[in-house]
Amino acid sequence: MCGIVGYIGSEQAAPILLEGLKMLEYRGYDSAGVSVHDGCRLNVIKAKGRLQALSDMIDGGKAVCGACGIGHTRWATHGKPSDENSHPQVSNSGNIAVVHNGIIENYLQLKDFLSSRGVKFHSETDTEVVAQLVDYYYEGDLLKAVHKAIDRIEGSYALGIMAADQPDKIVGVRKDSPLIVACSENGNFLASDVTAVLKHTRDVIYLDDGNYAVLSLKGVEIYDSFLRPIDKKISHVDWDISSAEKGGYEHFMFKEIMEQPEVIRKTIAPRIRNKKIVLDEINLSSDFIKSLSKIYIVACGSSYHVGMVAKYNIEKLTRKPVEVALASEFRYCSPIVDNKTLVVCISQSGTTADTIAALREAKRLGGRVLSIVNVVGSTIAKESDDVIYTWAGPEIAVATTKAYSTQLAVTYLLGIYLADCLGTIDKDEYERFLNEIMTIPDKVESILKGKGHIQYLASLYFNNQDIFFIGRNIDYALSLEGSLKLKEISYIHSEAYAAGELKHGTISLVEDGTLVIAVATYQKLLEKTISNIVEVKARDAQVLSLTTESGKPLVGQVSDNMIVIPDIDELFLPSLAVVPLQLFAYYVALMRGCDIDKPRNLAKSVTVE
Ligand code: AGP
Repeated sequence: MCGIVGYIGSEQAAPILLEGLKMLEYRGYDSAGVSVHDGCRLNVIKAKGRLQALSDMIDGGKAVCGACGIGHTRWATHGKPSDENSHPQVSNSGNIAVVHNGIIENYLQLKDFLSSRGVKFHSETDTEVVAQLVDYYYEGDLLKAVHKAIDRIEGSYALGIMAADQPDKIVGVRKDSPLIVACSENGNFLASDVTAVLKHTRDVIYLDDGNYAVLSLKGVEIYDSFLRPIDKKISHVDWDISSAEKGGYEHFMFKEIMEQPEVIRKTIAPRIRNKKIVLDEINLSSDFIKSLSKIYIVACGSSYHVGMVAKYNIEKLTRKPVEVALASEFRYCSPIVDNKTLVVCISQSGTTADTIAALREAKRLGGRVLSIVNVVGSTIAKESDDVIYTWAGPEIAVATTKAYSTQLAVTYLLGIYLADCLGTIDKDEYERFLNEIMTIPDKVESILKGKGHIQYLASLYFNNQDIFFIGRNIDYALSLEGSLKLKEISYIHSEAYAAGELKHGTISLVEDGTLVIAVATYQKLLEKTISNIVEVKARDAQVLSLTTESGKPLVGQVSDNMIVIPDIDELFLPSLAVVPLQLFAYYVALMRGCDIDKPRNLAKSVTVE
């Protein structure tokens, strides 16, 4: 969602802010702005639309003088995208400028309070109250004024704040929204995401909730919530800037699809040692595992779809009940969680507001939380009892691909690990699973080599108005992901159904030429799925099937077109089957001329409820 960059140093600030904001574009936004101190005054420039519009207004930053500034990309929540609602938001007097990620929940009360004291508001945003409130308390000490304002603010925030009469200071503070600081030879930085500062330094400090940072030319000082100075650990980011760049590919999404063999290997291989799954990053005792009454999987979007696959697999492996819940529902559905419940939170970003809220609710109820997270040091990782990282590297495209695949890989490891501990699989099965899981990267590689065929199929169907996905069991879980991938980047209406459920209503939408993508990889239910394919064929649907080498002879007889993937143990089929679905969505969106990496209305990390 929104992005923050702040800089103070020896260089001109505006070009550095624009460059940092460019690195945050992937998060999704609809307007941008900067505020730079030129030594005399704060210059604030904002523009609705793409960052390029802002950059053009200030000649790539050259038109704005000054070596201290803050910048922001805004994803609208309170008030539509407009110049006025963009950040930085400035107080009436013009003395305070604020950039903000998150939501100020009590902004209406604060607005009433300030209005009753004569403060005039100019935007529809919740952020403006922060600028006005800090100004209200300001008596020449910016940190103290921010501290007083924070005392009255409820909600989530990462804030960057400047004062017109303090040309060489930026104050940052956070709660429930990420914020980092970093020092380099040419200056000091504040940012909502490490990618914004990677060109300058890889040594960063992750601020915790309640921390304040004061950036000046001398360096960065950090304070706790009582404004007592504290020392924080410097973390070294070990992935390179090239991981966050396109590296010759036209789109991040395509690059990330192509990276999947490597990142799946990176996620699995170090965790299999001497023919054993070693999860030494977690601390689940065998007594706890044996006492488990239930496993809850909680996540949003594609991460939820991983949870759907995991439910089928982990239940089959462990014979323990597994419930999957959308994080946005979990908190409000009186979940049955106690100290015999393992709650698995899945999140690429580790900052999804709904998943964070679900995690806290699970802990409040006494559950043990194990998270599967990609972003190291993110809120979900920090607040969980145990974390298993997916080593996907930075994922920039809004539509997740490689993070999804590495999440799947971790759920396989976890399921087999639990089953081994519970004794629900025997030694032969265990060994066979480990041998099979190691074949995934090469098999994904071979599927990627056949991308030309999928591009051809996309050219046949990219003009369709509606596309249905059907499948049973894990193929249903995959259908959900295939459908989401397609609709989020191509804007084609699409729905996914359990194949047997279609005839209970939705089949009324199937007519001459409707495209039905039948995911038919799960051998045990192949004949059942074929019956459902035949039902839609009888209504003149076009059927594109996705099946395995073993399924091909039967499925081929009832399909108009087919994508064939290699055989693998049924547990791991989703890792292979998802790849053609990702490629199909990508090529369809490409042919429709869509903005693939930054689809409309979407944000990479959804930090609001
Ligand atoms: C998938 O392509 C989406 N971008 C979205 O559904 C995403 O998976 C969801 O918002 C969850 O994000 P998280 O994994 O970072 O928590």
